[in-house]
Amino acid sequence: MSTTLRVLSVASEAVPLVKTGGLADVAGALPAALAPHGVETTTLLPGYPSVLGALGPRTKAVHSWPSLLGTSARLLAGALPDGHPLLVLDAPALYAREGLPYTDAAGLDWADNWQRFAALGRAAADIAGGAVTKRGKSQPFDLVHAHDWQAALAPAYLRFAPFTDRHTPSVVTIHNMAFQGWFDPGVFPQLGLPDTAWSLDGVEYHGGLGMLKAGLASADAITTVSPTYAREIRSSAFGMGLEGLIVERGAQVHGILNGIDADVWNPATDKALAARYSHRSLDKRRANKRALEAEFGLDEGDGPIFIVVTRLTWQKGMDVLPEVLDHLVGIGGRLALLGSGDAAIERALHEGAARHPGRVGIRIGYDEALSHRMQAGGDAILIPSRFEPCGLTQLYGLAYGCLPVVARTGGLADTVIDANPAALAAGCATGVQFDGVNYDALAAALTRTVQLHASPPLWQRLQKNAMRCDFSWSASGHAYAELYRMLATA
Ligand code: ADP
Ligand code: GLC
Repeated sequence: MSTTLRVLSVASEAVPLVKTGGLADVAGALPAALAPHGVETTTLLPGYPSVLGALGPRTKAVHSWPSLLGTSARLLAGALPDGHPLLVLDAPALYAREGLPYTDAAGLDWADNWQRFAALGRAAADIAGGAVTKRGKSQPFDLVHAHDWQAALAPAYLRFAPFTDRHTPSVVTIHNMAFQGWFDPGVFPQLGLPDTAWSLDGVEYHGGLGMLKAGLASADAITTVSPTYAREIRSSAFGMGLEGLIVERGAQVHGILNGIDADVWNPATDKALAARYSHRSLDKRRANKRALEAEFGLDEGDGPIFIVVTRLTWQKGMDVLPEVLDHLVGIGGRLALLGSGDAAIERALHEGAARHPGRVGIRIGYDEALSHRMQAGGDAILIPSRFEPCGLTQLYGLAYGCLPVVARTGGLADTVIDANPAALAAGCATGVQFDGVNYDALAAALTRTVQLHASPPLWQRLQKNAMRCDFSWSASGHAYAELYRMLATA
C-alpha cells in the first residue's frame, strides 16, 4: 500500500461529542471510514464545553496562540471515543458558553460567529502548515478537509495567508448550501487576510464576507454529499446564489454519498431496541412496534405507523405535514413524530395530534435513543424534503426495514428505489418516491404506501431489499481517499 496520508478534518460538530444534525454523523464517522484506505484523519473541533469535557482534565496543550484573531487560544490533543486523533481549539472567549454551537438559548445566532469560525479556519491552516511541533520537529498535514461554512475559511487562509510556502491541498464539503456564513464587510480587516483576498475570486460575496463562498473559491476540490445534489446546485433553485461558482468550478466538483456507521446503526446489535432483529427475523420487529405504540400513546394495531425524525423546518417539508395528517389517519395510518424547530410547525402538529388521539403522537425535542427505537418500530419513515443534500434518516430507515417515503431530490433520489411496477417486477424496490412537496403529492404517496403495506408478503420483500442495501462507508471512504491522493500528489 502507498504511504499513509495525514488529513486534518475540520468541522464544527462531530458525534459523539457535539451534534445538531447529519454533519456531526459524517464528521464523526469519517476517520474510521478512511482508515482502511491508508488515510489517518485527525479531527479539529472548537472547544465547546461538551468537547472539552470529553477530553478530560489531564490533556496537554500542543500549541498556543497569544492572539488568534485577537483572542488567546490553545490547542489540546486527545482522541475521539473510537480512538482516532482529536485536536480541540480551546479559546474560552469564543466557545466557553452555554447554548448550542451556533445559537444562544433564545435560538439567535451568536453575534460573533464570524470570529468563532474564522478562528477555526485560521487555526486549521496553521496546524496543517506545520505549526504544531513534536520534539522540535514540525508536524504538517498532507491535506485539509473543511466541512461547511464554519470550516470553509481554512482553504482561504491556506491560499491567501499560509503558515508556510508549501502548498497544502484542501477539500471543502458542502453539507447544505442553505447555510453560507455571510457577514458584514466590516469584519474583513480583522481576519488577517491580505487585501487581495477581498475580491470576486476570494472571500467577498455580495458586498460582505462569504465564508462558504471563500472556501468554494479557494479549495482544490469541492465535494457535496450526493451525486444528485452535486448536479442540483448547478441551478439557481438549489445553488442559492452560488450556482455560478459551482458551474465555473464544475471540473473540481464531486458528489460523494454519505455512508452510515454500522456500529451505531445496526438493528441486529442495537442496544436501544426492545428486540433486535435482522432481515431474516423480521417478525421480531413486532415487539418494537408495540413498544413504539406504547411510547407515543398510539392505538395498538397492524396498520402502518409512519415515523418522522427531523428538524421541523421548511427544508424538510414540515410545513406541509400538518395539512396531510387528516388524510394519513383517514386511510388507516398512524404517525409518530420526533423533532424540534419552527414554533408554528410545532403548534400545527400539536393541533393535529389533539384532533387524532391514539393515531398521531408528537414528541418535541431531541432524543438519539428514541430515534433508534422509532426506526425499529415504525413501518415507514416520511421525508418530504424540498431539498436534501444527502439525508441520513432514509439510510437508517433502509437499514432498519422502516421503508423510506421520500421526495425525489438530492440524496433521497440517489438512495431509495421507488416501488413502481417496473421496480416491483425487477424485485429491487426499497421505498416510495414522489415529486413535489405539496398536499397532493404527499397524500398520493401516503396512499400508495398504505396500499403496499396491505400486502404483508410484498411489504416484507421490500423490507428485505432495503435491509440488504449497502450504505456503509466502504465505497465512499474509498472515493474520498482517491480524491485526497489525487490532490496530494498533484
Ligand atoms: P440534517 O443534517 O439536514 O438535519 P440528516 O438526515 O442528514 O439531516 O441528519 C439528521 C440527523 O439528526 C440524523 O442522525 C437524525 O437521526 C438526527 N435527528 C434529527 N432530528 C432529531 C431528533 N429530534 N432527535 C434525535 N435525532 C434527530
Ligand atoms: C446536511 C444536509 C443533509 C446531509 C447532512 C450530512 O445537514 O441537510 O442532507 O445528510 O448535512 O452530510
